[in-house]
Amino acid sequence: MEITLVRSRAAAIETDALIVLDWNIEKGGKHSGISVPLAAFYESGEITGKMLELTLMHGVEGYKARRVVIVGAGEREKFDASAMRKVAGAALRLLKGKGIQSIALALDEDGLTVPAYVAAAAEGLLLGNWEPDELKTDKKNNKQISSAVLVAGSVAPSLEGQFDAALERGITIGKAANLSRDISVEPPNLLTPRALAERARTMAQAAGLSIDVLDQDRMRQLGMGALLGVAQGSAEPPALIVIHYTPASPSADHLGFVGKGVTFDTGGISIKPSDGMEKMKYDMCGAAAVIGVMQALALLKPSVAITALIPTVENMPGSKAQRPGDIVTSLSGKTIEVLNTDAEGRLILADAITYAKQLGCTHIIDAATLTGAIVVALGHISSGAFTNNDALLTRWMDASKDAGEKMWHMPLDDDYRELLKTAYADIGNIGGRYGGACSAAMFIKEFVGDTPWVHVDVAGTAWLDEAKPWMAKGPTGIPLGTFVNLAMNWK
Ligand code: BES
Ligand code: ZN
Ligand code: ZN
Repeated sequence: MEITLVRSRAAAIETDALIVLDWNIEKGGKHSGISVPLAAFYESGEITGKMLELTLMHGVEGYKARRVVIVGAGEREKFDASAMRKVAGAALRLLKGKGIQSIALALDEDGLTVPAYVAAAAEGLLLGNWEPDELKTDKKNNKQISSAVLVAGSVAPSLEGQFDAALERGITIGKAANLSRDISVEPPNLLTPRALAERARTMAQAAGLSIDVLDQDRMRQLGMGALLGVAQGSAEPPALIVIHYTPASPSADHLGFVGKGVTFDTGGISIKPSDGMEKMKYDMCGAAAVIGVMQALALLKPSVAITALIPTVENMPGSKAQRPGDIVTSLSGKTIEVLNTDAEGRLILADAITYAKQLGCTHIIDAATLTGAIVVALGHISSGAFTNNDALLTRWMDASKDAGEKMWHMPLDDDYRELLKTAYADIGNIGGRYGGACSAAMFIKEFVGDTPWVHVDVAGTAWLDEAKPWMAKGPTGIPLGTFVNLAMNWK
């Protein structure tokens, strides 16, 4: 979908469908500029302006558009970039099944001519247009919209640059999130660790980033016993994907973005129940987010150096698989007793994070579909954020707000370390029945040491089991937007 920005009046735009935001008057606001021809709808209560209320009309008086969609945007005072993403996506999804080619979104009234809304609208439209149907032979239910016009009011010529940059940013982030979703939705027979490395390579080469894929032999030489132990049960060899972004002028700080890339998690010998196991193809969503992030950053060019690290394995049972009770030696030199082979994400992250430190990363963020426990704690609404450094967490939280990706600060006191004690090795890989998301984070912290770090457990937020009005079911791309904002805001 091609998205452009024009300076005009929405009423004058010729298009298949014009989307107009409408405010909720019950809460004391006023309707949008379109309210005059809609008086009857308002009087009857058919249009209230409530968030995500959608009304599709043909031939509205005074408008050149063939159709007008009135989309409820809630209370004007509460409206923000996150709401803009949703209303843009929801309106597009109402229209896309109907064979409509061109759409326009009115931003010329009600103070919507603002760069942040231009970016959010572009992003929301792209996210809404995506479908998880790449492997369906019959795509008749997916009639994509080919062009969208954002209709903005005029601004001082000196501000035009900000709007152009905002449009570019929204498009870049939306496309990067969709790349990440394309990778995440691939089935585990096709998206093996090697295939994931190929997807990363294709992205990096197209974006002009340097990439290094460590194979099994190289990881053996380095001593990545924790990662290799997880991989040994699979016929598919593992990889550690390393992608570098270097800014034009050297930066003192060096961010390490780490994504869990388990292309399928059977649980290994501690095998998972078969019911719903197919969902465990999503166990590489952290990795896919980081690949998308690097694509976006190659274009947006933050001023800080960034290295992405993606440990990727398939967690399988079998005669070569690791056993509960195995003790492996990690890259850090610490020994780990593998008490449950299904707690594999933390094992591969441990070695990837140690390697990130060896490469000189000064700050580390990891994103992982790490625990079922975080889903119990936070549901599918917020991702869990853990840290050893409150200043870095504050930056992460600020970045998440503009991205519309909810994060909740979870505890990580030293007390949780007790749960991981074992008599036979330096640390065990599980912490018992309760507080599972916290003991998992505590395990990772053991390998991070004092390097400022945030761990983001996206097990509940990386995948939608049901579609939302603004987004298809399947992968969400979370926390790609937060990563991008963090890098762009870095000083
Ligand atoms: N990939 C899973 C996390 C997961 C589990 C996400 C269930 C969504 C639903 C992870 O590797 C895992 O299996 N974690 C175990 C850890 C346990 C064995 C300590 C879990 O959460 O059950
Ligand atoms: Zn697992
Ligand atoms: Zn897993």
